[in-house]
Amino acid sequence: MDSSHCILFMDKFYWGFAIAATQNEGAYLDDGKSLSNWDAFSSNPKNIEDKTNSFVACDFYHRYKEDVALLKECGVNSFRFSINWARVIPDGRNINDKGIKFYQNLVDELLRNNIEPIITLCHWDMPECLEKQGGWLNRSLIIDAFALFTKAIINALKGKVKYIITFNEPQNIAFSGYNEGHFAPGKHLSKKEVLTVSHNILLAHGTSYRIIKEIDPNIKVSFNNCGWVAIPSDESNKALVKACYNSFFSVEPERIGDGRTMYTDPIMFGDYPKDYYEVYKDFLPDILEGDMDLIHTGMDFASVNIYQGYFMKEVNGNFVRCKENILEEYDNDLYTAKAMYYFLKFYYERYKLPILVSENGADSHDDVILDGKIHDVKRYKEIECFISYMKKAISEGVEVFGYLIWTFMDNFEWSSGYGPRMGLVAVDRNNNLNRIKKDSFYWYRDFIKGEKR
Ligand code: BGC
Repeated sequence: MDSSHCILFMDKFYWGFAIAATQNEGAYLDDGKSLSNWDAFSSNPKNIEDKTNSFVACDFYHRYKEDVALLKECGVNSFRFSINWARVIPDGRNINDKGIKFYQNLVDELLRNNIEPIITLCHWDMPECLEKQGGWLNRSLIIDAFALFTKAIINALKGKVKYIITFNEPQNIAFSGYNEGHFAPGKHLSKKEVLTVSHNILLAHGTSYRIIKEIDPNIKVSFNNCGWVAIPSDESNKALVKACYNSFFSVEPERIGDGRTMYTDPIMFGDYPKDYYEVYKDFLPDILEGDMDLIHTGMDFASVNIYQGYFMKEVNGNFVRCKENILEEYDNDLYTAKAMYYFLKFYYERYKLPILVSENGADSHDDVILDGKIHDVKRYKEIECFISYMKKAISEGVEVFGYLIWTFMDNFEWSSGYGPRMGLVAVDRNNNLNRIKKDSFYWYRDFIKGEKR
């Protein structure tokens, strides 16, 4: 695959990692932090597959300097992390200086090492005290609370941070958290309430966006999106490709609060898509006058998390999902590398924004420590394949300015606990949480070196 395009904008291209606060920080009650909704949720062993919790995670809070040194060793020039809301505003109202200090120190440490900090404000957590009052369902509480949180962080980091993503995968808050209930807060709300949760997230984004721009107009702001993309089984069939585009961008009739356009269309175009009003007509949220104007911020760049796809085919003039497996060399059922290409193509076609691949990576349950080493060849072969599809999209004109691997180190994988391992660095949970660089770590280091040549 021709990689010249990435080399072309080498100076601007971000190769990095992404992590999230709940999954990595630990120190769940240190220095004034209060319980987050995820600490509370994971404290019930019934909610987490391996009956663990988020309390210690990778102890990134205490070990961030050691970890930044590893980032440096790997040669990345960017690092995406999220802010633990309960660390910064533990009671939902008052700023905790020690919490703020941690993020200032982390940002300074990254900048000292020439690593660009890319910040997610909300990667699903919030102080449990706010969650108890209804969390994202409580419009009159949560938008102001998120505004306060935004203000505290941007005031503390202005001039140092260039990229902010207000929300990570809102679908996993609305659908997984408030509808299906396998994520915090574990609720099963009515359809109208779930759509209200999504609407309130969008209002919080709109408010937050304006605060960020007011405090530091140089910061580039985005709102993250994700999901399974439809991949044509016959790429020469134009009508099928179009059907895949439509499938990817249609609202989800069953999975309320999931879907892509119900979030990014209002932000980019100022209204929910047409099919949102049709499919959800019986349980639309209350949309007040001025709401859509507030939400309609536009974005400076797109942040997308790309992992999976499903294939579609044409049968007698109808376009249907393939049931059989159409797998490529390094694909497996979850990680379909071609998803990278079609996600980027479709997303760019619709929103015409420069794109940051803010997450992509590979799970593997077969990481074994052998003589202090982990030979996770399968992982980096898969990642290599994803990258080659990203480069194909770039070579066809899709503007991508960065690629961040999910994830830096094995961490707390939400309700799956510590079982899934997606890091390029292992965390030895039986041995003082020691960091062990996997073969994929060295592969990424050499790959980045190669890109810079
Ligand atoms: C999330 C991460 C998660 C990853 C792998 C994304 O949905 O943003 O927090 O760990 O996927 O499951």
